Formats: sequence, C-alpha cells, structure tokens
Amino acid sequence: MNELTLARALHVLSIVIWIGGVGFVTTVLLPTLRHSTSGEDKIAIFNEIENRFSFIAKVSVLIAGLSGFFMIQKLNAWHRFEDIQYFWMHAMVSIWILFMMALFIIEPFFLNHGRMIKNPHIQSNLRKTQIVHGIILTLSLLTAFVSVLGAHGFIFKIN
Ligand code: HEM
Repeated sequence: MNELTLARALHVLSIVIWIGGVGFVTTVLLPTLRHSTSGEDKIAIFNEIENRFSFIAKVSVLIAGLSGFFMIQKLNAWHRFEDIQYFWMHAMVSIWILFMMALFIIEPFFLNHGRMIKNPHIQSNLRKTQIVHGIILTLSLLTAFVSVLGAHGFIFKIN
C-alpha cells in the first residue's frame, strides 16, 4: 500500500510540473511574445525557454508514465482498458502518448526552430503555436479533472 501511495504522489507531482509548465507557456509566455514588438528576439526567447522546459517536461512525462503503469500493476487494473466506464484511464494514456510523441519524436526530428526564426511569418507561427498549445492544455486539464473524479469513484463505483 505504501508503494502505491508513493507512486500516486509522484504521479500527481510530475503531472503538476508538466501540465503547469504547458499552462504557463500557453497562457503567459506565448501571449506576451505575440504582443511584444521585437521581431527575431521573441523567437530566440521562445526557443530558449522552450528548450529549458523541454528537459523538465521529458523527465516529468517519464515519471508520470512509470508511476502510472506501476499503479496499474499494483492495482491489478489492466482490465479497465476493456471497459468504457474507465474512459478516464484511456484519456490519461492518450495524453501521455501525445506528449511522448511530441517531446521524443516530433520535436527532435521534425521541428526545425532555426527555420522558424528565418520565417517572415513569425507572428502567424506564434498564433498557430498558441492555438495548438491551447487545445493540448484544455485536453490535459480535462483529463486531470476527470481522472481525480474517476480515481475516487465519483464517476462510477470502482471495483
Ligand atoms: C501512461 C500514462 C498514465 C498512466 C498509465 C496513468 C495511470 C494512472 C493510475 C493507475 C492512476 C490511479 C487510478 C486509481 O487510483 O484508481 C492514476 C491517477 C491519476 N492520474 Fe494518471 N496515468 C497516466 C497519465 C496521466 C496524465 C497524462 C494525467 C493528467 C493529464 C494523469 C492524471 C492523473 C490524476 C489526476 C490521477 C488521480 C490521482 C488521485 O487523485 O488519486 N495521469 N493514473
């Protein structure tokens, strides 16, 4: 039971750091940069901050996944994925896969930030980035919300 509680605490802590960071980038950093005047500087600032956060996010996403799968094993809860009443479990894993892909595959192999700096449409790039971040943040927050409800038997009774 102690291990399960510890894993739960690590799970929630990593989610707080990771989704909190996404929230900051989406609601504070991107709007500030979009409305500031200096052209190339703002992309450089954005890259610098995102690169630093990227490392923190990678570690947090890994800890969230490890602690999550550990809890499934401890709770003997693999059967939940066959039952739609546990849709919040599917939601958690889907968000996790989305971020794993973004951080470990799309960002290092497909996103060329250098090209973005030279792009004359910096403003529209930042707008698109903010929209994508906004959608992902909303889905992540909804997932966190229903996961607490689900884990505590608010949605359906847990067996
Ligand atoms: C591979 C990815 C993940 C796995 C395997 C996983 C697994 C789990 C498990 C097994 C639980 C405990 C459920 C229970 O007590 O019945 C849990 C709780 C929770 N998870 Fe995840 N999770 C993952 C990702 C996420 C993500 C991405 C989020 C947020 C967006 C999230 C948020 C939560 C929350 C808020 C709780 C409830 C904590 C509590 O109040 O006790 N998880 N997760």
